[in-house]
Amino acid sequence: MKGIILAGGKGTRLYPLTKVTNKHLLPVGKEPMIFNPIKQLISSGITDILVVTSTQHMGAVVNLLGSGKKFGCSFTYKVQEEAGGIAQALALAENFAKGEKIVVILGDNISTTSIKPNVDRFVNQKCGARVLLKKVGDPERYGVAAIDEKKVIQIEEKPNSPKSDYAVIGYYMYDSQVFNFIREINPSDRGEMEISSVNNLYIEKGQLEYDILEGSWTDAGTFESLKFANEIVLETNNQLKNSN
Ligand code: DAU
Repeated sequence: MKGIILAGGKGTRLYPLTKVTNKHLLPVGKEPMIFNPIKQLISSGITDILVVTSTQHMGAVVNLLGSGKKFGCSFTYKVQEEAGGIAQALALAENFAKGEKIVVILGDNISTTSIKPNVDRFVNQKCGARVLLKKVGDPERYGVAAIDEKKVIQIEEKPNSPKSDYAVIGYYMYDSQVFNFIREINPSDRGEMEISSVNNLYIEKGQLEYDILEGSWTDAGTFESLKFANEIVLETNNQLKNSN
């Protein structure tokens, strides 16, 4: 299994912090934000990791992360030339994935408990995809899942009237079909290739399973959520806890 961290995008909601610095290099607790998704992958046994970021920030990202030796993993890098959406960034990983299953993490998603049990469940899942959900107070900011006991029934990206309080958070597990599904989707009204559109194609096939994430989680893409990200990781000294 291979890991992919998406660290492109413009980070406009954090201006001027992100005017010259990549969002994923900003401090969260005592470390740069991107260390958290790296630790998640390594804690799940995934050490072959692709990092996608923009042309502007690739130099700084490589300066920080290097080959991966000091983390006990191996990094490969790909440039996303324009911030055309999460699915567009993921499409760049097709050659790297080489037909294997992948775990994709959005570089601004911060959590305190290892996702290893969820990844283990995906290893044992015959085919399809697996997403992680978290109950949130402001679902209209996220991809929102309507669910039954076992499967996700529908995902709406940033809905005005959310059908549930469950956000589809930035930890996605896919089989090799994902790259064909990305080729099938069109940009959304906001002009982005949405990961929710890809996930909805898995739903159409009856192949999207889910888990609810344990522990604390937040994205860190706004001032308020970045502050919360700092609070939760400082509680654990930037270490991930093992899940119960
Ligand atoms: O945090 C979870 C949410 O992330 C999900 O619930 C949503 O379904 C999903 O669309 C996404 O929503 P955001 O609007 O918060 O995504 P944002 O544009 O902030 O991008 C999240 C990360 O994805 C960002 O840290 C870097 C990466 N990204 C994003 C874009 C648009 C890229 O690598 N390339 C891109 O072009």
